[in-house]
Amino acid sequence: MTSHGETDPTRRVIALFGPPGAGKGTQAELSVARYGLVHLATGNLLRNEIARGTELGRNAESIIKSGNLVPDDVVEVMMRDKIAEGLAERGRVLLDGYPRTLSQADHLEEFLESQLGHGLDLLIFMDVADEVIMQRLLGRLICRNCGAIYHQQKHPPRQGGVCDRCGGPVVRRSDDTRDSVRERLDVYRRQTMPILERFAGQERFALIDADGEPDEVDQRVDSRLAPLMTDGS
Ligand code: AP5
Ligand code: MG
Repeated sequence: MTSHGETDPTRRVIALFGPPGAGKGTQAELSVARYGLVHLATGNLLRNEIARGTELGRNAESIIKSGNLVPDDVVEVMMRDKIAEGLAERGRVLLDGYPRTLSQADHLEEFLESQLGHGLDLLIFMDVADEVIMQRLLGRLICRNCGAIYHQQKHPPRQGGVCDRCGGPVVRRSDDTRDSVRERLDVYRRQTMPILERFAGQERFALIDADGEPDEVDQRVDSRLAPLMTDGS
């Protein structure tokens, strides 16, 4: 097996990790614009399935609304295919919201071993307090068409209800209610946090403070991402 220092620098898989509302999607947009990574956000992919009315989407809809997780095997198969496509297309993939359980982390590492000869290149943990999360999620708006992220007070679309980027309808997410956010935080602590214990202390683990303005958080994220993007950009 090839060691980390010797692997192909044009093929990278990085995961943005953190609680709901940490700003994973917001930061992913900035990193993707800078480096042209393929952005794979499990939540967005599942919401697309719901919008298209597929069987997967029909099964996932009520689970997502309640704040619980879609079954591991469903997400693992979906993400394996998407990661393989992303690597073939651009070589560099940014995961957002995946892995989210220990089973998913194991599955991902095994799959990447088979594709790249090593596991995840970097896991960026975005740390932020629950009170900040609640304010962010109860004010969030998204474009139903392109997924662009807004906030009612801090970052509203220029024309109310219309996406700046694509002109699509800007709406609230069905899981951005106080009850659902509480449930998502609870699920995060029980099922997702254990992944941290596996990665913490490793060289490929980065803990960043996700409080502060989006540009400040972007600088912190990029200080860890940029060294992996030096070739093939
Ligand atoms: P998903 O869509 O991944 O939701 P999440 O993890 O709960 O995270 P969010 O998308 O809510 O938050 P974010 O960190 O992306 O924050 P954002 O940038 O939008 O998953 C939804 C559901 O799908 C799950 O509950 C589950 O059911 C299912 N699912 C997904 N992945 C799964 C998996 N792997 N396995 C099983 N099921 C899965 O920002 C939030 C708000 O804050 C925005 O309004 C934004 O403008 C604002 N904001 C962002 N950064 C800042 C900042 N620095 N300062 C001020 N405001 C900010
Ligand atoms: Mg998100």
